[in-house]
Amino acid sequence: MPFFEVIKVETQQQAASVVVDKLAKDLHEGTLNVIGLATGSTMIPVYKKIVESPLDFSLVTAFNLDEYVGLTPTNKNSYAYFMHEHLFSKKKFKETNIQNGVAEDLEVECARYENKLNEHPLDIQFLGVGENGHIAFNEPGTPFDSVTHVANLTDSTLGVNSQFFDDDEKIPNTAFTMGIASIMNAKKIILLAFGEKKRLAIEALLGDKITEQLPITVLKKHPHVTVITDILID
Ligand code: GLP
Repeated sequence: MPFFEVIKVETQQQAASVVVDKLAKDLHEGTLNVIGLATGSTMIPVYKKIVESPLDFSLVTAFNLDEYVGLTPTNKNSYAYFMHEHLFSKKKFKETNIQNGVAEDLEVECARYENKLNEHPLDIQFLGVGENGHIAFNEPGTPFDSVTHVANLTDSTLGVNSQFFDDDEKIPNTAFTMGIASIMNAKKIILLAFGEKKRLAIEALLGDKITEQLPITVLKKHPHVTVITDILID
């Protein structure tokens, strides 16, 4: 029987507590050895709560979902920088992994990352969602059997994400991303979504259709999903 739960919360702080409780349980039971992490404003309260918690991740290996092509880890818009800032500089992990935004050969980098993921199966994968239903940087139309690849970002994603870049700095229009299949390989998925802008995506996830046009809907095929949201769906 697949496990699919929707946890309705009032605030992002409440959501963060729910996540930390789940992590505590799995760490205690010894079933959390590899974790897939996400970036985006949705994740910030979760990482804050993890940092404040006594939870020990020193035996846990982390993999991030995605990274902009062309950004170094010292660029404040890179996801490597985001992770260092919000989590890795404050909580010790056994090992952290993220695609190398400035890798010379993009295809070799994708293969390297996917191989490493295959060697370390994900126990839990965190996900946020884009307004157009993208997960990681798997934009609408991405094949469900995709593995780590370089994605062309859509205008919708570029529009939403460019707000974090300075006026004189151009947002990269391509990014490394775990594929849909790489994400679906995780044993458990925890997806967080807050605010009305994410309603379309959450309604699609809770609706009947499974379509590559709305990547989030693939999660209906996953055996163990927790959705944590403040969006009221009737
Ligand atoms: C980016 C990331 C996604 C993330 C999304 C939502 O596009 N690649 O992994 O889910 O942003 O971001 P936010 O949490 O800021 O709404």
